[in-house]
Amino acid sequence: MERLQKVIAQSGYASRRKAEELIKQGKVSVNGETITELGTKVSGDDDIVVNGIHLGKEDYVYYLLNKPRGVVSTAKDEHDRKTVIDFINTDKRIYPIGRLDYDTTGLIILTNDGNLTNILSHPSNHVPKTYVAKLSHSLTPSDLMRLKSGVVVDGKKCTPTRVKLKKNDLDKDYALVELTIIEGRNHIVKNLFKELGYLVDKLSRIEYAFLTLDNLKSGEYRELSIKEVKKLYEYKIKNK
Ligand code: URA
Repeated sequence: MERLQKVIAQSGYASRRKAEELIKQGKVSVNGETITELGTKVSGDDDIVVNGIHLGKEDYVYYLLNKPRGVVSTAKDEHDRKTVIDFINTDKRIYPIGRLDYDTTGLIILTNDGNLTNILSHPSNHVPKTYVAKLSHSLTPSDLMRLKSGVVVDGKKCTPTRVKLKKNDLDKDYALVELTIIEGRNHIVKNLFKELGYLVDKLSRIEYAFLTLDNLKSGEYRELSIKEVKKLYEYKIKNK
């Protein structure tokens, strides 16, 4: 059971504050009954109508975008830079699940489904994300070992579940490292390599959970299938 204003906000219909206003104004009904009390709890089975619009699962949308470089992953940018939302043709209030840095490219999911966002963002649900990082220098064998055994970043150890040295060019002095991590701290990959003494010149996320970029070009997107969405929901169950 969740608070009504939270459920309305999670549906993407309105912000939580706006949802509270709508409830107080008597614009929300649950199972045909107008509700004006803010703390009212509802379940997924309840029929919630706001201003005549049914909030239901069928209103949820899910997109997988190949984010280009030079794009912010917030819904709105205070400096009016291009956002990941600008790439998606929808009239729904979608937002990205997690963030990729302005200069990071690759796989990002956008939705208006707050439940799925919570599931995938929660560290205990262990959603793997795979990145390819181009490093400012070639990687020494001892640093590769350190990376594999885990690196303390801001007081907390981050241990990649998989590390693959795809290229280590000693002449041109750079390395390409593919690594999978299950946590979602901001700038985690860059900070991890910073601890080892490397700058990340290029970063791309190539996998998120079981999803890959497939043939999507930079700036292209596709909708997730119901099967994929269901599978993403299973992350909640798997790790509980
Ligand atoms: N780690 C980073 O450092 N940057 C990203 O964009 C994603 C993960």
